[in-house]
Amino acid sequence: MADVTLRVFRGDKEGGQAVDYKVPLTPGMVVLDAVHSIQAHQAPDLAVRWNCKAAKCGSCSAEVNGKPRLMCKTRMDSLRLDQPIIVYPMKAFPIIKDLVTDVSWNYNVNKKIPAFKPRAGASWKFYQSDVDRVQEFRKCIECFLCQNVCHVLREHDKKDVFGGPRFFVRTAGLEMHPMDGVNRVPLLKEQLGIGYCNITKCCTEVCPEEIHITDNAIIPLKERVVDQFYDPLTMMFRKISGAK
Ligand code: SF4
Ligand code: SF4
Ligand code: FES
Repeated sequence: MADVTLRVFRGDKEGGQAVDYKVPLTPGMVVLDAVHSIQAHQAPDLAVRWNCKAAKCGSCSAEVNGKPRLMCKTRMDSLRLDQPIIVYPMKAFPIIKDLVTDVSWNYNVNKKIPAFKPRAGASWKFYQSDVDRVQEFRKCIECFLCQNVCHVLREHDKKDVFGGPRFFVRTAGLEMHPMDGVNRVPLLKEQLGIGYCNITKCCTEVCPEEIHITDNAIIPLKERVVDQFYDPLTMMFRKISGAK
């Protein structure tokens, strides 16, 4: 079969450059297969993170021809093969080596979100439609492609004040659970900075699990913030009672 060229970033936090590798194309090949072929035959020190090769572990996130994608879910025959396929690490996170980035900031954001806690005296009977609503959010594989594409993190690097779409999805799964008794709305407003999101929907476009991040998670959460903090009657009550 014909050879195809992969132009792969090689380097670390000190700097680096793109290096071209010619790889023999095989039927059904995905970009991760091509990267593994480079590792096996040309550059055994090429760093890449992966686990499942089934689009389920969320490890092999990268930028292929400038688009955030899972390498194991990106078929070579879906790309133009008459020009180099450009494979770069995710831009929004610090690089460790080659295609591997340090995504540990995400786990620190996750720790800020209180876990599920049932309401006192809650009845454990609820409608299937309520289950279906939160089930969508449980599909997240923590690939962080949505975090990578979000301009608040990618261009403006607001990691100190913004949690990012992945954690709006997680918070939505908890807040919309019919039995949950925790109020995470102040957290969304203050620490997760949901107000920075201007609903561009870029996160939704790259999600490999096709979660409707913006429409089903972020917008309903923004509505809850408005209800609790910007409703005129609630604001008046807060002022009178001195509550924050
Ligand atoms: S919709 Fe909001 S969270 Fe999603 S990419 Fe745009 S600004 Fe970021
Ligand atoms: S919401 Fe989608 S894009 Fe974001 S981390 Fe989860 S699976 Fe990945
Ligand atoms: S290797 Fe698991 S998602 Fe790609």
